[in-house]
Amino acid sequence: MAWPLEAIWEQVAPALPGFTVELLPEVDSTNTELMRRGRAGRLEPTLLVAERQSAGRGRLGRAWQGEPGASLTFSLGLVLAPRDWSGLSLAVGAAVAGALHPAVQLKWPNDLWVQDRKLGGILIETATTPGGARGRFVIIGIGLNVRPRPAHGLSTPPAWVQELLPACDAAATLARVVPAVAKAAQRFEAEGFAAFQAGFGQRDALAGRPVRLSDGTTGTAAGVDAQGALLVHTAAGPIAVTSSEVSVRPA
Ligand code: BTN
Repeated sequence: MAWPLEAIWEQVAPALPGFTVELLPEVDSTNTELMRRGRAGRLEPTLLVAERQSAGRGRLGRAWQGEPGASLTFSLGLVLAPRDWSGLSLAVGAAVAGALHPAVQLKWPNDLWVQDRKLGGILIETATTPGGARGRFVIIGIGLNVRPRPAHGLSTPPAWVQELLPACDAAATLARVVPAVAKAAQRFEAEGFAAFQAGFGQRDALAGRPVRLSDGTTGTAAGVDAQGALLVHTAAGPIAVTSSEVSVRPA
């Protein structure tokens, strides 16, 4: 695959001084690799694209299974110092969806959905910066299905980018998404999730639907608040769900 790394670099570097782009034929996980680098003090803004991951990770300790050529796996690492970190995965999701297609929806807190099928996911991790430097090193990992892939082991059959954008391969998907994510990360640092709340709301896959949380709570999803917490109307009254340990499904 011919990856448009130079074009991406040219688009992103002016806003992110020191930006580097790297393609790895194989790595355990682009998030894990950037975490190792961050912990070793390598904090320059970096895009790592992997053609194959041997230990891709998802949220809640789940594995992320990619298929070389059929999925796109990459992470962007950079130092950010927002006043409040809450809602970053939602802001990134809104940016990815906006860069792809109007039919892409967001399933709180970090999934990209098309008609209730998972198109991709976002895994955000942070590491402290050494020596009291400002902010944290944040690793924004994104996995997207680009071509059809087998459904085995998945609770819902997957969606893929080429359903919506037939000519968009993994390289073209990367070129669409990375500049949007870099821009969103910097806007999030300056303005917080509030700047993305309306955009998230327009693509909220759960809004107005009955949902069940992994702790057994049921209710009706009612959007997200200015911090990105999921609002759920339950029989016992409204609740705001913030816990990253909670997962939610349409009931
Ligand atoms: C999820 O669906 O729970 C999040 C999936 C995130 C997968 C991406 S692929 C690139 C990066 N490296 C990883 O190990 N995970 C993220």
